[in-house]
Amino acid sequence: MTNSLNTNSVITLGIIMNGVTGRMGTNQHLLRSIMAIRSEGGIKLPSGDVVMPDPILVGRNGAKLAALAARAGVARWTVSLSEALEDPFNSIYFDAQLTKLRASSVKSAIQAGKHIYCEKPTGVNTAEAYELYTLAKQRGVCQGVVQDKVFLPGLIKLKWLIDSGYFGRILSVRGEFGYWVFTGHDQIPAQRPSWNYRKEEGGGIIVDMLCHWRYVLDNLFGSVKSLTCLGATHLPERVDEDGNLYACTADDSAYATFKLEGGTVAHFNSSWTVRVRRDDLLTLQVDGTNGSAVAGLRECVIQPYNATPRPVWNPDQESSIDFSANWMKVPNNQLFDNGFKSQWELFLKHVATGSPFPYDLREGAKGVQLAELGMQSWAEQRWVDVPELER
Ligand SMILES: NC(=O)c1ccc[n+]([C@@H]2O[C@H](COP(=O)([O-])OP(=O)(O)OC[C@H]3O[C@@H](n4cnc5c(N)ncnc54)[C@H](O)[C@@H]3O)[C@@H](O)[C@H]2O)c1
Repeated sequence: MTNSLNTNSVITLGIIMNGVTGRMGTNQHLLRSIMAIRSEGGIKLPSGDVVMPDPILVGRNGAKLAALAARAGVARWTVSLSEALEDPFNSIYFDAQLTKLRASSVKSAIQAGKHIYCEKPTGVNTAEAYELYTLAKQRGVCQGVVQDKVFLPGLIKLKWLIDSGYFGRILSVRGEFGYWVFTGHDQIPAQRPSWNYRKEEGGGIIVDMLCHWRYVLDNLFGSVKSLTCLGATHLPERVDEDGNLYACTADDSAYATFKLEGGTVAHFNSSWTVRVRRDDLLTLQVDGTNGSAVAGLRECVIQPYNATPRPVWNPDQESSIDFSANWMKVPNNQLFDNGFKSQWELFLKHVATGSPFPYDLREGAKGVQLAELGMQSWAEQRWVDVPELER
């Protein structure tokens, strides 16, 4: 398609979006990423050309797909994945289905020669996830996994502090993630899908969150070398989407410690059974020799060495220090877009122009690997080393 005002062209990329009626598929990927990019007129390349995504929604339920297509303003939908894969106009396959369904659909898409972009975890175990990496590499298609947390404004600010040398030597990272997910009792609906609490359906917070902590730690603080992880299923019963009581077979909380290359120690608490008394649903406190920082999803505050108060333990007196007042906000010196959208833009540019995209399916498999080793550590009650996955 050629723009009539100049010689620049529009590169249209047909994207099969599978699992798009779900929580992540609808909100983050379709509405806030793909449709947002379309309504902005596509992604402008340095050459002046424009990359325009053109989605086709795929799922099991035609009525749901038709309703979502109408709501989002999408022209194409189908209940037949094979039909969508056969159409050469569709060059990208995106998957946000339940985790346990991911690998087989992604494999069909690789066989059909589609570029792959998908949600994490990329498989139910390391072998399955790593196979997707090798298959996509052999087929020569572009490949990517969602690693949204590094695109959060709070973590972008943190990365900026790290790169500028603000911290000196980084000693430790404390991650607190979680919030109270209602059980579905007392007519208060749960705010996460019930499969999250059933191991046999790919649920569990270790599988879900250790994938994220892998790329956050590897990209910001140093490769994870070993870990211990203690999981727990604190709440044994919940109520599902149809109002039925079910037994929780998967962990709803995880307490994990990681040793990183370079000596930094990281500890992450992840929980769907915790009430929030902190700045955000995820906070990362980083303590370095020259200063500290606490990042949330959007904000990041710092306390440099020279502004560090000198507390003395004395429970008999009210503290003279207001510990949370003594921090400075890192300013918003740049505009921050939705993190999922930013990563989609990078991936679409990668497909259109071959520009770098570091978040490939090997990175996805590394996340699954950390989760799997976390489960092993919990089962065997010991430290577990993290072997390198071959490139
Ligand atoms: N990147 C992130 O921060 C993040 C956050 C949450 C979830 N996720 C991942 O995204 C994926 C989807 O999670 P979600 O929270 O959107 O789940 P969800 O239950 O809301 O959506 C699941 C999707 O899979 C489809 N599906 C296909 N076959 C199904 C079946 N047999 N049973 C049930 N659903 C079926 C559903 O129709 C729906 O479109 C998961 O792999 C999850 O781990 C990623």
